[in-house]
Amino acid sequence: MTTMFMSNLFEGKVALVSGGTSGIGQATAEYLARHGARVVAIGLGADTTVVADGVQLDLREVNVTDDESLKSVIQSLDRLDILVPAAGGTLGEKEMEWEAFNQVLSVQLNAVYRLISLAYPLMAKQGGSIINIASMFSYFGGGKLVAYSAAKGAIVQITKSLAEAYAPDNIRVNAVAPGWITTPLLAKIDDQPRIDRLLSRTPMKRFGSAEEVAKVIAFLASDAASFVNGAVLPVDGGYLTTAI
Ligand SMILES: NC(=O)c1ccc[n+]([C@@H]2O[C@H](COP(=O)([O-])OP(=O)(O)OC[C@H]3O[C@@H](n4cnc5c(N)ncnc54)[C@H](O)[C@@H]3O)[C@@H](O)[C@H]2O)c1
Repeated sequence: MTTMFMSNLFEGKVALVSGGTSGIGQATAEYLARHGARVVAIGLGADTTVVADGVQLDLREVNVTDDESLKSVIQSLDRLDILVPAAGGTLGEKEMEWEAFNQVLSVQLNAVYRLISLAYPLMAKQGGSIINIASMFSYFGGGKLVAYSAAKGAIVQITKSLAEAYAPDNIRVNAVAPGWITTPLLAKIDDQPRIDRLLSRTPMKRFGSAEEVAKVIAFLASDAASFVNGAVLPVDGGYLTTAI
């Protein structure tokens, strides 16, 4: 993992990352820890997650749809400066079915808001930064991902609403909108013609890495972004710039 910022950038700060056991969340947890933050990373599969050398993460197995577990994670913290609710997934075309629709919304939307609202009183004590994870499906509909795109559209609105609501407490709320990022989630696409179409539409002609998203999240969490509030920042290699 490369370093762009001073290694003590987040010294004295505490970060909580959901979905911190894989992909974008894990890369973010590691990146924040590598830059001095004390990081609690929650998610599924915490017992099997391998953390790179030299990074101290407090990894905890927590299902974000379990309210009591979320409450006890927050209660265990003495302070909280940075919150990244990155847990999520998709059920693909099954999302058209009511149960699957609700299942995806409960993780990708309801649990995000629940975690933020539980964390808010602790963050309000000193201020901080919340970085949500939007998506290209915040901009486009998803004919095969109806719940996922509904959730990601709503994440943008939650980001804007809470940016206004929490500003008096010195809490900034922003989002990144990753394009196509190489993680276990993306690996579920095994349709080569679709992969080719996605790559050909991306001006940079490649997928991004989880670390490339983590670096932008770190920027938004840092004082370098001290007047950035309510923004949704695409990290997509230019995918949104093209009409085809
Ligand atoms: N990979 C991409 O191309 C891409 C693009 C845009 C947005 N995103 C978003 O980024 C976020 C992370 O995705 P990723 O690609 O890193 O996926 P991933 O599959 O690598 O990681 C998902 C993480 O979420 C956790 N998780 C899932 N359900 C959970 C639950 N009920 N309780 C607790 N943890 C749970 C998993 O344990 C894992 O840590 C998601 O919100 C996803 O929608 C990903």
